[in-house]
Amino acid sequence: MPTPPPPQPQDRPQERPQSRPTGEPGITRKNLLKAAVLAGAAPVLLGGGAALARDGGGGPAGLTPACHDGDEPTTEQIEGPYFKPGSPLRTVLTGPGTPLTVSGYVFGRACRPLAGVLLDFWQADTAGAYDNSGYGFRGHQFSDEQGRFTLTTVVPGPYPGRTRHLHVKLQAPGRPVLTTQLYFPGEPRNSTDTIFDPRLVMTVRQSGPGRESSFDFVLDVPQSPSPSPSPTGPTPTPTPTGPTPGGGTWRAGTAYRVGDAVSYDGVGYVCVQAHTAFAGWEPPNVPALWRRV
Ligand SMILES: [Fe+2]
Repeated sequence: MPTPPPPQPQDRPQERPQSRPTGEPGITRKNLLKAAVLAGAAPVLLGGGAALARDGGGGPAGLTPACHDGDEPTTEQIEGPYFKPGSPLRTVLTGPGTPLTVSGYVFGRACRPLAGVLLDFWQADTAGAYDNSGYGFRGHQFSDEQGRFTLTTVVPGPYPGRTRHLHVKLQAPGRPVLTTQLYFPGEPRNSTDTIFDPRLVMTVRQSGPGRESSFDFVLDVPQSPSPSPSPTGPTPTPTPTGPTPGGGTWRAGTAYRVGDAVSYDGVGYVCVQAHTAFAGWEPPNVPALWRRV
């Protein structure tokens, strides 16, 4: 049975990153790219209008080599004490409470969507309690070919010392893990929670009895500025392969479950997240999926 959690002293930052205002909502290069993706077009239209105004003007806009319009990599935040590896692969977290959907995109530094990014969510239930004995309100998923993700859950309850928030870890293949938290606008406790960061506030709207929210992540993943037929290049495809470099039992194309043991390049690993492996997700590259033993 969930019990009210103790205060989270570990959730308090040793040193809080400097906050800055969220900035005015408006049209950004990222939003234009997102619109292009939604329209099924290659994200190449960047010139003119408000985007240039936000960019400070000056010359025709081409594809940006980096997200200069405020789309810096998403701010990192502390993990807190309640992360638990081995969450189920699922996009729907069920339980009593106000329905909530969280959706958005994962972008790289050139504001291009990233496919196949691992997103591992965990949160408190509506009463502000974490399930530390099971996997209630915990689940991981992968961004789709357009870089999209959707989480269906309930609005988490606040708990002593913390405003409402969601926890998430993201990892693109072969890249470091980004750990952060997402917040709700207009929460009274936002002003007293020293971990709260306005850069991480979701856009939230009422939808019937529930809420719909959106947030786009930007990972520090280098991307080519040149357009390509697919925003992210070739979609990772699990493809069975021959022997792995350096020998070992790990194979791309294999569906691994939690607890499965493999070897790679002379080192043993245990799977901590169920997934289907593909090239680029070799165990040394993805500590969110494999624990070295
Ligand atoms: Fe938390």
